[in-house]
Amino acid sequence: MNEIACKLQQEAQRIASKHALPGFYTRFKAPLALAKRLFYNHPGAVRLRGIVEPIYNEALGHGLFHSTRVSIDCAALIHIETEGNHLDPPEIERLMVLGTYCGLLHDISREEQNHAQRGAEKAKSLLCGFSLSGEEISCVSEAIRNHEAFAPPTPSGRQWAQLVSDCLYDADKFRWGADIFTHMLWHIMDYQGIGPQELIEKFPWGMSGAASIIETFRTPTGRQFGPEIVENGMEIGKEIYRYLLEHFKEG
Ligand SMILES: [Fe+2]
Ligand SMILES: [Fe+2]
Repeated sequence: MNEIACKLQQEAQRIASKHALPGFYTRFKAPLALAKRLFYNHPGAVRLRGIVEPIYNEALGHGLFHSTRVSIDCAALIHIETEGNHLDPPEIERLMVLGTYCGLLHDISREEQNHAQRGAEKAKSLLCGFSLSGEEISCVSEAIRNHEAFAPPTPSGRQWAQLVSDCLYDADKFRWGADIFTHMLWHIMDYQGIGPQELIEKFPWGMSGAASIIETFRTPTGRQFGPEIVENGMEIGKEIYRYLLEHFKEG
C-alpha cells in the first residue's frame, strides 16, 4: 500500500479505537465466539480457506480480511436467528457452516462484472468436492447471488436457505461500518490509484451510500443492530474526512 493510504489507514484505526464497539459485538459474544471457532477449526472451513486464499486480492479491499469478517458475522447471525426455533444443535451448526462458506466465497469474483452472479456460479463448482448435499450447495450459491446491495433478491422456497441468504447479506453490509475506514477504503484507494484530492471529492457520495444501506437489512437482528454498526462507521468517516480536509485540501 502506498505511503498516503497507509498513513490514512493508521489515522482511521486510531480514530476507530476511540469509539465503543457497536452493540452487536458486545451483546452476542457467545455466538460470535462459536462462529469464530467454526471458522478456524471446522475441517471444511479450513479447507475452503486454503482454496480461496490465493484467489482473493487484498488490494481490492474485499479480500480475505473482508471475507473472514463476513463469514464470522454470518455464522453468528444464523445462530442468533435460530434461537428458539427448536432446531437441534447439529442442525444449527450445519447452517452456521453453510454461512461460513457463504462468507468465504461471496466476493470470489469481485473483479468480474456482475460479481454476485459470477461468484454464485464459481461457488457451485468449488463446493462440488465438499461433503454437501445438492440443496446445500444451491443454498450457498443462491445466497451469494443475492448479496448485492440495492438489487432485489430472489426469494428462496426453503426457510432455512432464506435465513442463510439474509444473514450473508446483513453480515456483508455490517462491513459498511468501521471496517470501511479501518481496512477496505485504503486498499481500494491504493489499488485504484485514487489520490487524497479525489477521495475528498468522492467522500460525501460514499457517506450517503452508507446511510442508505441502513434501510436494507434483512434479518430482525440485522435491522436491530445493523444501523448502529453503520452509524458508528459514519462517525469514524466524518472524523477522517475532517482529517483529509485539514491535511490534503488544496486551494
Ligand atoms: Fe460483494
Ligand atoms: Fe462483500
